[in-house]
Amino acid sequence: MAMEVIPTGAALGAEVRGLDLTGPLDAEAFDALQQAWYDHSVLLFRGQSLSDDALIAFSENFGALDIAPASATDMAGTQEKSRPEIWIISNVVEDGKPIGALGDKEAEWHTDMSYVAEPPMASVLHSLEIPKAGGDTSFGNMYKALETLPDDLRREIENRIANHDSSMTSVGELRAGAGAVVDVRNAPGAKHPMVRVHPATGGKALYLGRRMNGYVEGMDVAASEKLLDALWAHCTKPEFTWTHQWRVGDLLIWDNRCTIHRRDSFNGSERRVMHRTQIKGGVPV
Ligand code: SIN
Repeated sequence: MAMEVIPTGAALGAEVRGLDLTGPLDAEAFDALQQAWYDHSVLLFRGQSLSDDALIAFSENFGALDIAPASATDMAGTQEKSRPEIWIISNVVEDGKPIGALGDKEAEWHTDMSYVAEPPMASVLHSLEIPKAGGDTSFGNMYKALETLPDDLRREIENRIANHDSSMTSVGELRAGAGAVVDVRNAPGAKHPMVRVHPATGGKALYLGRRMNGYVEGMDVAASEKLLDALWAHCTKPEFTWTHQWRVGDLLIWDNRCTIHRRDSFNGSERRVMHRTQIKGGVPV
């Protein structure tokens, strides 16, 4: 069956049909897939059933993998991972220990692991168990957010660097080993340009990481807060976003260089189990 790419009709995202991701992809199929990914920034595959080894093998078509990120303090050492590259995202608790990260809470808008010097260029998320309602994941198109940014805001971020805080997870929990941030000017993390150029597409995208503890270098704190609030209000407008409602067997790959994402909360008495990989990226420029 030939590969078919069906755009969501929203600001980003497309569903790819006709590919079985459990086996190797030939060079022609991979080139077509990679181009579709560059064109739509997020790709959805339905009806997949990948072991962790197969998830890693599929992800490695795009590049070498990062190991999974640090989770919240109360999870330190609790994840029973099959491989260090697999990040388990789950609310399930077994024998009194969470089997994964992020629980059942809302995860705020963010791009993955931008608090490190070389953040992963992509993330691949595969759904194994899904609650009846909630837990939807939304994506935002940061090329479009930048293109449509009002001139005054665009001038304010030109050649600016922002710090991407590493202390908190996207559900607002302190990471293992992190201390609470009292002054955003001293928050731990990584400093990146606020506008980055995608190394493959050449497109320019707004690059913000996450709102929590963000700081625009060289500004006084009040001015930095005001600017970041205005940028986040702009880039999360519905016209730049698309929301995915999960089914078991879905697999999404998203491009962290030009997108943001968030997750809805869900009923914690139901199970949600997802396995994620992170594909290595370079220094954002
Ligand atoms: C994430 O990678 O930020 C989690 C997304 C999700 O749980 O749907």
